[in-house]
Amino acid sequence: MKTEILRIDENSLMRAKKIIDGGGLVAFPTETVYGLGANALNQSAVELIFVTKGRPSDNPLIAHVHKDYDISELVTEVPDYAKLLAKAFLPGPLTMVYKSRGVVCPAVSCGLDTLAIRVPSHSGAQAFLKYVGVPIAAPSANISKHVSPVTAQHVYDDLNGKIELILDGGKCSGGIESTVLDCTGEVPCVLRSGLVTRDMVAQVAGECDIYHIVEGQRVRSPGMKYKHYSPRCRTALYSYDDRMKAYDEYREHAARGERVYIMCDDMTAADMADAKILPLGGDENAVASNLYDRLREGERVADIIIAVAPQKQDGVMVGVMNRLTKACG
Ligand code: TXA
Ligand code: MG
Repeated sequence: MKTEILRIDENSLMRAKKIIDGGGLVAFPTETVYGLGANALNQSAVELIFVTKGRPSDNPLIAHVHKDYDISELVTEVPDYAKLLAKAFLPGPLTMVYKSRGVVCPAVSCGLDTLAIRVPSHSGAQAFLKYVGVPIAAPSANISKHVSPVTAQHVYDDLNGKIELILDGGKCSGGIESTVLDCTGEVPCVLRSGLVTRDMVAQVAGECDIYHIVEGQRVRSPGMKYKHYSPRCRTALYSYDDRMKAYDEYREHAARGERVYIMCDDMTAADMADAKILPLGGDENAVASNLYDRLREGERVADIIIAVAPQKQDGVMVGVMNRLTKACG
């Protein structure tokens, strides 16, 4: 199969709709990462996502809808706090889990009685979702366990020959996947951290829990139990306080003639005279935005990436650290 990358316009949207209507897959941009979309009402199309990515069959998918879509068609109970959160943060990088009406096919939620819904803010995603007119089930558009894609080229690098069309909407600005929030309880609960932080949710909803896996109990967000985001080279991870140990390790590898890079924010880079750096940028939003791009660049140029965690550990950094630990820990 030939994989085409097309900019988003009337023609490419028409192509995309034809593929989606025919039960095929289309990769599309969002403000977080690129998604691999299928018609959420078509069981075999959704199953194709799992086959194409090599995704475990018990890891449920998010249904993506455009901003004017009435989600009460898909879910039964929308608590008052969820309405407030939707008003405050949607369209945007927040996925909300509700009780499902069972309208989308069971493969989307892997048989769970809940459904995760996301309304992306990226104009290309909105155009695509409006044009196709059906809810689109979509995970990140990478091979399972690899680093999520933030450019059309990243999608191509993973899925060339496996899908017909990649809609190109430029580099994703957010850079890490959406916050996943369980809205089926009395109080919202963060299942996956992201750019919409727990504090931001608590400010609107009054309260917000954060979910941690408990040994021996069923995992509420199945995606949490899998290894993720891994670059295809060796990695090491140091805390900010141990950054000079990272520098020592860097010099050991360099002395052996290995291709070694330090991945860190601007503050740490200033302490790493003459080291080769994969720069993450200055503030937390820059670090989130650059993380996957630098990991993918690193696996191309390095034998080993030595990552140094940023000093700040709260807010958006909770989500960044979650990915960094899984990628390099
Ligand atoms: O930013 C994003 O969310 C991107 C873009 C493409 O929208 N999508 C994405 O999808 O990251 P994926 O499949 O890589 O991650 C979906 C996460 C998984 O951790 C999964 O376990 C969780 O959402 N999830 C999906 N449905 C769920 C449900 N019904 N209950 C609990 N967790 C759910
Ligand atoms: Mg993913």
